Amino acid sequence: MTIDQTITLRNGVTMPSIAFGCAFGDWVGGSEFQGFLPEQAWRAIPMALDAGYRAFDGAHAYGTERIVGASLGQRFASGALTREDIFITTKLAHPRTSPEVNISHLRTWNADEVEDIGQRVLDDMMRSLDDLALGYVDLLLIHWPGPFENRDAALARDARRTIWRTFMALHDKGAARAIGVSNFTTAHLRELVEDDQLTTPMVNQIEAHPYCRDRDIEAYCREHGIVITAYAPFASGALGMLGDPVLTAIANKHDVAVGQVVLRWHLQSGRAVLPKTSKAHRMRENLDVFGFALDEEDMAAIDALGSGAPRRTCADPNDVV
Ligand SMILES: NC(=O)c1ccc[n+]([C@@H]2O[C@H](COP(=O)([O-])OP(=O)(O)OC[C@H]3O[C@@H](n4cnc5c(N)ncnc54)[C@H](OP(=O)(O)O)[C@@H]3O)[C@@H](O)[C@H]2O)c1
Repeated sequence: MTIDQTITLRNGVTMPSIAFGCAFGDWVGGSEFQGFLPEQAWRAIPMALDAGYRAFDGAHAYGTERIVGASLGQRFASGALTREDIFITTKLAHPRTSPEVNISHLRTWNADEVEDIGQRVLDDMMRSLDDLALGYVDLLLIHWPGPFENRDAALARDARRTIWRTFMALHDKGAARAIGVSNFTTAHLRELVEDDQLTTPMVNQIEAHPYCRDRDIEAYCREHGIVITAYAPFASGALGMLGDPVLTAIANKHDVAVGQVVLRWHLQSGRAVLPKTSKAHRMRENLDVFGFALDEEDMAAIDALGSGAPRRTCADPNDVV
């Protein structure tokens, strides 16, 4: 099976199917420090550009957009790259997290703490564009559908519609070439898709890897032409997933690395991917997934790994009202 290196979104915008993940830190319990460590991006982003990445998945909350902007600026200044060579995603509207996670309170908020949600979204967008030193992003996503603790469902729903209308205005004026959502369940998506005054999201970025599948949301997105992007495609290096014997056997059969098998499986399933690594050789390896193909048996064996309850590294969006 051949696959393209790009995916065309519903509005005709072409998106690279592999983007470099720009969230640095630890939030899956692997170390005592839990939270974001943007300083790691200073080394990784220039290395990723050298390795050939031209798409970067960022977010206002990650604190790495200044570093992405500075790294790109150097390439623009030397003439090595132009803005049109690059695909930049940002995400806004990240809710407050539990107190033990180190994430800037300036970059996270819940709807019930904000007087004017539309204005807050516009302000965050302008800060992201300032940090990136760009006039527009290629893809703008709602980071989470609402707060992590169960709160007022009507307020959460209203907030989503206000954020989405603000995104539509940003799209109309060219500040975002495409707009979408992240961590949206079928229930969250339905209220947007079924309102014909609202644009249907072009992308839904969700946690997906061999141990975490949500077939309902995948089917719903397919039916409505919403591209799925898999975040944490390697389960953030957790759950022992990259040592799974089924994945290892398939990797040995094709003489490739387990990470390459996982990425190829995502791509052959029609999902875009956001691999992140700190290592130059893995950056190259994770882009080098177009020279082999998984057969039906391989695909079925990997699909079977995710037939139980999803094992997540991030919060369960089904708990967000
Ligand atoms: N929308 C959301 O709410 C959301 C949530 C989470 C993540 N994301 C996005 O998804 C991106 C990726 O997710 P992630 O950063 O959590 O983790 P990930 O890409 O699933 O996994 C990263 C881990 O895998 C290891 N790794 C990478 N390539 C490998 C390979 N070829 N072989 C073996 N190990 C490999 C890395 O270790 P080394 O550094 O040692 O290679 C690192 O520990 C984020 O950066 C972010 O852009 C979005």
